[in-house]
Amino acid sequence: MIPTSDDSNTNNISLSRIRSFVRREGRMTLAQQRALTEYWERFGVESGTVLLDQESLFGRRATWVLEIGFGDGESLATMAATHPDINYLGIEVHRPGVGHLLLRAKELQLTNLRVMCADAIEVLEKQLPNNCFDRIQIFFPDPWPKIRHHKRRFIQPQRVSLLVHKLKPLGQLHLATDCENYALSMLDIFNATPELVNTIAGNGFAPRPDWRPMTKFEQRGLRLNHIIRDLLFLRHANC
Ligand SMILES: C[S@@+](CC[C@H](N)C(=O)[O-])C[C@H]1O[C@@H](n2cnc3c(N)ncnc32)[C@H](O)[C@@H]1O
Repeated sequence: MIPTSDDSNTNNISLSRIRSFVRREGRMTLAQQRALTEYWERFGVESGTVLLDQESLFGRRATWVLEIGFGDGESLATMAATHPDINYLGIEVHRPGVGHLLLRAKELQLTNLRVMCADAIEVLEKQLPNNCFDRIQIFFPDPWPKIRHHKRRFIQPQRVSLLVHKLKPLGQLHLATDCENYALSMLDIFNATPELVNTIAGNGFAPRPDWRPMTKFEQRGLRLNHIIRDLLFLRHANC
């Protein structure tokens, strides 16, 4: 079943965890609604407690990439179409975005993309095995710019080990943001994480890789003359 936009179940779930998003349904087009109904079976993966396995999801083992918070999913669809040899799993809470990506997945006849409509933190905690991803990518996570909201940011020191353990040894952790303060905070957090190594000499930001398609939020950041920062780390080979 696809989760609803109803957030009234908040009382039943752990209130101890502060969410990195506010679930707003926003406007959903008829086409997106239809995609959620018609294409979910083909591309969708249920959230819950079942441990996910690459072979069962894709019918093959290959390089496996996780994208968290794909937004409208355009850049993820482009990546999946450009790299049919790679398996992609995308997780997003915003249902119109999920509907949009399902539409694109059908149009592009993608066989290497699976989509979850869920809180990625819960999926990481309950459904994803350790040591399974070759890359985890999070592009333009919500910046939560007000200091009192920083606790909502997806990247927190206490969450890094959850992410890192989902990577295979030498797997990549790739983030991008147009929020300088968040970029600096992530750089400090990752540089201080013993299981991670910065791919850039001097432990700085990475140049924007050519293979990362432009995202909707990146375009917005550029219109606002924000500096775009990429962070590219590897999980150590033996920790
Ligand atoms: C600022 S948008 C960026 C979207 C897209 N990556 C882009 O660059 O255009 C951040 C996205 O992360 C999603 N998000 C935030 N927290 C999430 C979570 N815990 N699990 C899944 N998605 C999340 C939001 O719904 C939102 O679509």
